[in-house]
Amino acid sequence: MTVTGPRAPASDVPLSSGRVSSHAPVLELEHVALELGERTILRDASLVVNQGEFIGVLGPNGAGKTTLMRAVLGLVPAASGAIRVLGQPVERGNASIGYMPQTRSALAGRRVRGRDFVAMAADGHRWGLPHADRSTRADVERVLDLVDGRKLAERPLSELSGGERQRLLLAQCLLGNPKLLLLDEPLISLDPHHQTSVVELVRRVQQELGIAVLFSAHELNPLLNSLDRVLYLGSGVAALGTVDEVITRPVLSRLYGSPIDVMRVNGRIFVMSGDVEVEKHDHEHEHDETGGHAHAHPHGHSHGHAHGHAHQHDSRDGHTQDV
Ligand SMILES: Nc1ncnc2c1ncn2[C@@H]1O[C@H](COP(=O)(O)OP(=O)(O)O)[C@@H](O)[C@H]1O
Ligand SMILES: [Mg+2]
Repeated sequence: MTVTGPRAPASDVPLSSGRVSSHAPVLELEHVALELGERTILRDASLVVNQGEFIGVLGPNGAGKTTLMRAVLGLVPAASGAIRVLGQPVERGNASIGYMPQTRSALAGRRVRGRDFVAMAADGHRWGLPHADRSTRADVERVLDLVDGRKLAERPLSELSGGERQRLLLAQCLLGNPKLLLLDEPLISLDPHHQTSVVELVRRVQQELGIAVLFSAHELNPLLNSLDRVLYLGSGVAALGTVDEVITRPVLSRLYGSPIDVMRVNGRIFVMSGDVEVEKHDHEHEHDETGGHAHAHPHGHSHGHAHGHAHQHDSRDGHTQDV
């Protein structure tokens, strides 16, 4: 999307609030601007994520969720400002961060056994060779236990459901005891039941280990019971706060650059632009293989709800909808 919308200073959006934690900051952004080519993804964002927080990262397609994660990994340099992880400037290959990238296309077809797949991330594909060392093996068993995945790990990836593969991917991220997990759209292409179980699993592991998680998603509702705070991105602005602080008409209207209504029904929250549910509408065309922004289109458009679920059964290039 093009970054448009109001140019008011970012300071009228709650930047850092909610539960005050005595823990050390895990992630700090100080007046950060992120740019990709000519595009401004973030401008002047300042925020702090503390140890032990589960942060739901939301925002329209193309808002910059993936770019922000890549910046925290040191893969996208900040155009200005400072990003710190555990008090240190970002660096590539930071062992204190576990990362699950958004595109996980090829996994469904792979015959590799689950345990070997998890281990590949630990020892650079040498698993199974005689010199896979003992501490690596122990770490693999530890992370499999954490996700309750020892049984799954006996089976090849190709025989697992999307939700089960997600468990092993989470295990991979936990290798080496990271303090911060960046999980980019782990719910893509999972049905609601599996979505809930993935969110609950991440929440349990996150609390058990006391680590911080940034969990990006299309939709707020699957995360509602598990998140501590929301980081909502849009129009170059990052709003971090509790659901009640961020998921409001004024904040979201600013982030979407058009009037937004927030409706609460039976404990669920719907973000609406007129009679269109923006979170759903925005991602209707998306599936796992696109990398997330192939179908990005501007907001405030008027073509309504006509496309329904026509793309749900798309199974090109081995994608399987986990229903
Ligand atoms: N390498 C790149 N060069 C230029 N623009 C890019 C690049 N990668 C992504 N973008 C654009 O940057 C914006 C943010 O993308 P992204 O971080 O993937 O958003 P999200 O994950 O929230 O959908 C999008 O408009 C996307 O098209
Ligand atoms: Mg993305």
